[in-house]
Amino acid sequence: MLAARIEEGRVVWQPDHDLNQTTPAADEVTIRIAYAGVNRADVMQVAGAYPPPPGASAIPGLECSGVVTAIGDKVTHLAVGDKVCALLAAGGYAESVTVNAAQVLPLPSSWTLERGAGWLETFATAYLNVFMLADLKPGDRVFAHAGASGVGSALLQLCKEQGTPIYVTAGSDEKCAFCRELGATEAINRHRQDYVEVLKEVGGVDVILNPVGGDSVERDQQVLKQDGRLVLIGLMGGRNGQVDFGRLLMKRQRLMGSTLRSLSSERKGAILSGLWQHFGEAFTAARVRPMIDRVVPAEKVNEALNYLQENRTQGKVVLKLAELD
Ligand SMILES: NC(=O)c1ccc[n+]([C@@H]2O[C@H](COP(=O)([O-])OP(=O)(O)OC[C@H]3O[C@@H](n4cnc5c(N)ncnc54)[C@H](OP(=O)(O)O)[C@@H]3O)[C@@H](O)[C@H]2O)c1
Repeated sequence: MLAARIEEGRVVWQPDHDLNQTTPAADEVTIRIAYAGVNRADVMQVAGAYPPPPGASAIPGLECSGVVTAIGDKVTHLAVGDKVCALLAAGGYAESVTVNAAQVLPLPSSWTLERGAGWLETFATAYLNVFMLADLKPGDRVFAHAGASGVGSALLQLCKEQGTPIYVTAGSDEKCAFCRELGATEAINRHRQDYVEVLKEVGGVDVILNPVGGDSVERDQQVLKQDGRLVLIGLMGGRNGQVDFGRLLMKRQRLMGSTLRSLSSERKGAILSGLWQHFGEAFTAARVRPMIDRVVPAEKVNEALNYLQENRTQGKVVLKLAELD
């Protein structure tokens, strides 16, 4: 079996003898991988800035689709031959992966394996942080940075599906148009307009999803309403910045940090169950789905990572590892 290794800031494909010999434990399944989703976290891991959680494989890749080839004794909701999608802590950039069955969902009916590789990481992130941690309520307004990102394009669709107004930023007029098509109430070109001014004019927001960090948290606080919730999920703008403690106190704002990758299988399973209970019908009907920007053959993985790094994506990039459809 081939698997990706990181060498001097690049991905190389090498035979991995451990993968050939792995058998699933009682609560695990082994998946022959067809496609793997590409995420910003992979870019950071390959650059040496985001090591996998303790105990996880060094092979990058947080999500995949494929076919079950072996199952543990206690797994009852899946069978050999099923087409599935998996949310991983690592190991998606490989021909095979073994993972706790709680992190695996059947491929939604009528979906291709290509589409199935590009949704769990981003939709689980959007659902965990906005719906579970920030406890989105009817009547709330949401703001998210990077609306055209994988995570942003997922959150836009979830909000649209349940009628929640959502404001986003994006880096070009073209990306703003993409966000509006996905349901953005307003998309703000971050290079041409100040989102703080725009959001002040509409009276502020109740929930903010922030993957930027740096100076943005203090700026977000200016438009976060009384009892508002901000969840920090990334540091694309830097790991240091200011917090306005006065505003935090007087407005009873709640600032939270969150990482999906290092959560236990049990917690990941609970997030996937909640996501499916809430939006399963919309996924099955494909009203809500990953927006696939492009499919890239495995040998061009470094080009795919550069494409993300250069902020050029609209939605998701997926890697093709094998023809299994
Ligand atoms: N904590 C978690 O559990 C978790 C899970 C998944 C993802 N994340 C984080 O969520 C973020 C998005 O991930 P993804 O895979 O969806 O990314 P992605 O598809 O690669 O999109 C990232 C986009 O962010 C925007 N951006 C880059 N630098 C920025 C900055 N300094 N200020 C504002 N916007 C900036 C760019 O779009 P524009 O130029 O259009 O603005 C870029 O295309 C990443 O930070 C990732 O680490 C966190």
